[in-house]
Amino acid sequence: MLFALQARRVTSLFLSLLVVSIVSVAARPLWFEPRQSSELNVATCTDPATQLVEHDCNVALLGLGGGIAGTIEFLRVNSSTTSATSGTCTVTATAVDGGTTIDISKGRLEGHGSSNGGFDNLLTACGPSPGSMVIGGGALPTGNIQIAISAAK
Ligand SMILES: *[C@@H]1O[C@H](CO)[C@@H](O)[C@H](O)[C@H]1NC(C)=O
Repeated sequence: MLFALQARRVTSLFLSLLVVSIVSVAARPLWFEPRQSSELNVATCTDPATQLVEHDCNVALLGLGGGIAGTIEFLRVNSSTTSATSGTCTVTATAVDGGTTIDISKGRLEGHGSSNGGFDNLLTACGPSPGSMVIGGGALPTGNIQIAISAAK
């Protein structure tokens, strides 16, 4: 009888320790890991079966933030996200990893051949089909820019 009671106490002690350790392991990423949306320059192609028109995506890119065509060298938007659509394609830039506004040079946004990510690298990886990629930097007060291609709605 006494033994059974003690065994039950030990069991419940063990169970609470188990719960505490599971909870602390589960909570750890929130406390100790920096918020990082994903690796830079790694494309996530979300719908390869949907083929968009590449020219539409290029035009949409240059329509971001009221337009960054021609001699305009920066995409500056006082908002965490901006998008533009042309024909089949919508392009969206979003400040992530602590960013609240967008301030990125056109060269970095396009990112051609850069290991820092960019629209051109996303197109190369996914083709003109839906997907996203994180570009290093370009957000204020700190953070990165996620560039995404999606089908126009
Ligand atoms: C940016 O937007 C915020 C809130 O919408 C506004 O208070 C602020 O004045 C804006 N800043 C600039 C530089 O336009």
